[in-house]
Amino acid sequence: MKHFTCVKDIDNLSTALEEAFELKQNPFMYETLGKNKTLLMLFFNSSLRTRLSTQKAAMNLGMNVIVLDVNQGAWKLETKRGVVMDGDKAEHILEAIPVMASYCDLIGVRSFARFENKIEDYEEMILQQFIQYAGKPVFSMESATRHPLQSFADLITIEQFKTKERPKVVLTWAPHPNALPQAVANSFAEWMNETDYEFVITHPEGYELAPQFVQQARVEYNQRKAFEGADFIYAKNWSAYNDPNYGKVLSRDRSWTVDSAKMALTNNAYFMHCLPVRRNMIVTDEVIESPRSIVVAEAANRVVSAQAVIKKLLFN
Ligand code: CP
Repeated sequence: MKHFTCVKDIDNLSTALEEAFELKQNPFMYETLGKNKTLLMLFFNSSLRTRLSTQKAAMNLGMNVIVLDVNQGAWKLETKRGVVMDGDKAEHILEAIPVMASYCDLIGVRSFARFENKIEDYEEMILQQFIQYAGKPVFSMESATRHPLQSFADLITIEQFKTKERPKVVLTWAPHPNALPQAVANSFAEWMNETDYEFVITHPEGYELAPQFVQQARVEYNQRKAFEGADFIYAKNWSAYNDPNYGKVLSRDRSWTVDSAKMALTNNAYFMHCLPVRRNMIVTDEVIESPRSIVVAEAANRVVSAQAVIKKLLFN
């Protein structure tokens, strides 16, 4: 694996899952693999889990780690060619990328959708520039359209908790005060579509995800109907994808909040969310604090997914 930006970068998902569970069992089995190698983690956006879990994963592999919050302490970066740089941006990303790459062996990048230009967001302008100009393996720590380390951890979590071969997994939109990217939902759908699970997406009309992520999944606009018989409920907010509403909040309807009454429609489903979560917007206190909530186990598996991916990139 040269770079890691989506599920397609993994040759064989079953083997990758086996390797992930091996690492979960014995996190230090490759503790010298990354000796004298440096991981650079670059954050254009905030993070708690990705920052800590990816750093921990690299440390388990014996790596050195440098973390840079690009918007706090570094020069402001211009990202487009041809711009007359007479504003507040002191450095161009086309110099910054090879310079940063010269200090490391592997680069993790977090760069969210900006909602300024849908085409630029969906072409992954920032991430693609790193892949093109770094000359080092690059992995996504959440890009404009995907969050593959999260989705891999989500898959590991479902495999860990499932009690039947082919569980019913439901991705449900839930309300949030702000406009959030589609990345987590897109990516979760993309990974679920690689499994043979029964996979259903439910959201209010107007929140349709891009067809390349929905693929063959069943879309059910009635949330209660979607929840019936579910084994896993995966809640997430996202903003509208379709024009002319790209990046907009169309609804804050709290009748879509995941509560105990809706969970009672399921097959005693586990509740999942990537975190951070807005309580009593996305999910009630009661549901997230219930014994069927596996959000902490899910977050803990972020170390496992990151370690499995970094290991593959180091072996390259
Ligand atoms: N789930 C996730 O990516 O969390 P952070 O945004 O805190 O990294």
